[in-house]
Amino acid sequence: MTITASARSITDSWWREAAIYQIYPRSFSDSNGDGIGDFNGIRDRLPYLRDLGVSGIWLNPFYPSPNHDQGYDITDYTDVDPDYGTLEDFKEFLSGAHEFGLRVIIDIVANHCSIEHPLFRKALNAAPGSEARSRFHFQDGRGEHGQLPPNNWRSMFGGSAWSRVDDGQWYLHLFTAEQPDFNWRNPSTAAFFYDVLRFWLDLGVDGFRLDAAQGLFKHPDLPDADNPFEEERVGDAANALAWNQPEVHDVYRNWRKLVDTYAEKDGAERPLVGEITGLGSRYLRDYIGADQLHQGFFFEFMNVNWDGQSMREAIANGLQQARDTASPVTWVLGNHDTVRAATRYAGGAPGVSRGDEELGELRARAAALLILALPGSTYIFQGDELGLPEVTDLPADTLKDPVFRNTNGGRRGRDGCRVPIPWQGAEPPFGFTVGTSTWLPQPEYFSAYSVETERAQRDSTWNLYQKALAIRKEHLAGNTMFRSFDVGSDVIAFDRGEHFTCVVNAGDVPVRSPMGSEPTLTSCPFKDNMMPPNTTAWWVH
Ligand code: GLC
Ligand code: CA
Repeated sequence: MTITASARSITDSWWREAAIYQIYPRSFSDSNGDGIGDFNGIRDRLPYLRDLGVSGIWLNPFYPSPNHDQGYDITDYTDVDPDYGTLEDFKEFLSGAHEFGLRVIIDIVANHCSIEHPLFRKALNAAPGSEARSRFHFQDGRGEHGQLPPNNWRSMFGGSAWSRVDDGQWYLHLFTAEQPDFNWRNPSTAAFFYDVLRFWLDLGVDGFRLDAAQGLFKHPDLPDADNPFEEERVGDAANALAWNQPEVHDVYRNWRKLVDTYAEKDGAERPLVGEITGLGSRYLRDYIGADQLHQGFFFEFMNVNWDGQSMREAIANGLQQARDTASPVTWVLGNHDTVRAATRYAGGAPGVSRGDEELGELRARAAALLILALPGSTYIFQGDELGLPEVTDLPADTLKDPVFRNTNGGRRGRDGCRVPIPWQGAEPPFGFTVGTSTWLPQPEYFSAYSVETERAQRDSTWNLYQKALAIRKEHLAGNTMFRSFDVGSDVIAFDRGEHFTCVVNAGDVPVRSPMGSEPTLTSCPFKDNMMPPNTTAWWVH
């Protein structure tokens, strides 16, 4: 009789209720004075993350890159850009993070690479029709002399999705021209990324965030889309032929098998978390499940305004999705692509104004307390724990985001949320660097939001996050219960079992507290048992 050794079971599904801190490596902490954050800087700040009380880190791309799209254009998938240090520095950072009990999730960009990637350079030097060219989407153009792009697809960042090379062929790039799309119909592409994942898994990373996860495969015939935009549009993923092709799911099934073999070794899951955009959250269901991705970011809540009814609906949709997929929601308020919550909720926008900042910060605090109380996991974008506003008035000549350039200034782009973190002191660079300048300038008013300032103030946003994360760990761990109750249309109220209640006043006027006792934690103080507008409170009872 043969006894098949059964794999050790996967017992640690830590990602299900994790609070992950998103580090944008360029802007977190600079150790060598060049004005650019780096791994030694991050390592020095690990005690900060322990004190804040998060359970892990997601790192934006740190691989060698010419930075046409801030690291999302990669020339080497298994190394560290010298801006951030060396692979040795990464390893030291990783073991340091693990010593603090922090999990580390890294970013995998599989839809496209950099025009400077050796595979693309090889393709450029090879003949049309060659194997080297078939690693990407090289096509002849249309028109008498092939002078027109092969189809009408548009880049997410503005302009045509095609660029022409010297011998007259065109290559596809759904983002900037410096980010050629891989051809996933060539099996070598899948083999290449399988090895990339294994490389990082072997080094000990704990999971992956998958960039543009609805991408990878395109319609095999690359036909015209039926929505050829008349005018410039950006960020539109409605082109159903460029995204969300059925073959992409086989890739994720394979990757899931791979990460599960690592999980079986020590019991701890290595989650795959997809950035699936532009499709509407109902599509998340096609990607998430026991044999594909563990999770997909739930952007619906982030994308709704401060409005009781819309937020309630977004929450209900998220929780329904969690039931459908048996996978908890990944709640987010912000990330490196999005106007910061404190400015969004204030009605501010890049290039326009900072909006009503006081209101924005109140709402951002209340929204944070709301999502931290919901069942599931959460991703906190660096600086949101300080209530940092978007820097809406970066001078045009300091902007780095290709979106600004590609739309001829029509869109300011995403730099305003990527400004380096203020750590301490009264003026720039606020302890971010030992040098004097920073890769994006910091405004003077950041002093009011510095880590040093906020840790010293009892009612600061930092202290609110810190307390909330501690209470969440103590009282909500392992708890998936959720029951909402009705306190009027502007109020969102729910219990998490017998002993935890969360109430949000999303309206404009104070409401009488539905609870008999003082809240355990509130984003804004109560007056005479009245809950102020733009406030979330928790009761542990
Ligand atoms: C994702 C990233 C974004 C990047 C784009 C192209 O949306 O979050 O920052 O520009 O993919 O890689
Ligand atoms: Ca540096």
